[in-house]
Amino acid sequence: MSKRKRAAILISGRGSNMAALIDAARRYGFPAEISLVLSNRPDAGGLAFAAANGIATAIVDHKAFESRDAFDAAIGKILESTRIEIICLAGFMRVLTDPFVQKWNGRIINIHPSLLPEFKGLDTHARALAAGAKVHGCTVHFVVPELDAGPVILQAEVPVKEGDDEATLGKRVLTEEHRIYPLALKMLAEGKVRLEGDRVVKS
Ligand code: GRF
Repeated sequence: MSKRKRAAILISGRGSNMAALIDAARRYGFPAEISLVLSNRPDAGGLAFAAANGIATAIVDHKAFESRDAFDAAIGKILESTRIEIICLAGFMRVLTDPFVQKWNGRIINIHPSLLPEFKGLDTHARALAAGAKVHGCTVHFVVPELDAGPVILQAEVPVKEGDDEATLGKRVLTEEHRIYPLALKMLAEGKVRLEGDRVVKS
C-alpha cells in the first residue's frame, strides 16, 4: 500500500462527521490517516471523541484574532507543522479566506447537508421542507472561495417523507453524510478523484 495521506479535520461542533471519518480511517487499507482534529471553538463536542481516539487535537479560537487573515495564518501554521496533505471541513463554521482556500485548492473538501446547488447556507432541512422538496440529501464537494459552490465529488439523496420535521429529515440526511464523507476522502486520498480547473475528474 502506498503511503497514507495525512488528513486534518476542521470542526466547530459535535463532530459526528468527524467521528465517521475517524472510524473509517481506522479500517485496514484506508488510504488516509486522521493526523489532526482542529476546532475554532474550545467547547466543540468532537474534541473529546478525537482525543479519546488518540488523535492530536488543536484549538484555534477565532475570537483571539483580529482578522480572518490572522486566524487563517494561525491554522495554516499548524497544518504545515503537522504535515497535513488533505483538509476535511466537517461542520466548521468559519469562512476561510480566499488565499487560504486557493492554497489548498484540490486538497480541501467539505460536507454540506443538501443536494447542492439547492439550499446553500444554513437551515437546509427547514428550507427543503418549506419548499416542499420531495428529495433532499447531502453533498461532498471541493472547497472554493465562493461558499457551498465547489465542484461536487459525491451526493446522496434521501426521500422527504410525509410528516417529516427538521429533526427526522436531518437524521435521515446525516446517516448518508456519514456514509459518503469517508467514501469521498478515500477517493481523494487514493487519487481516484481530483480537481482539474473547476471540474471534478474521477478515474
Ligand atoms: C453536518 O450536517 C454537515 O453537513 C454540516 O454541519 C453539520 C455538522 O455536523 N456542514 P457534525 O458536527 O458533523 O455532527
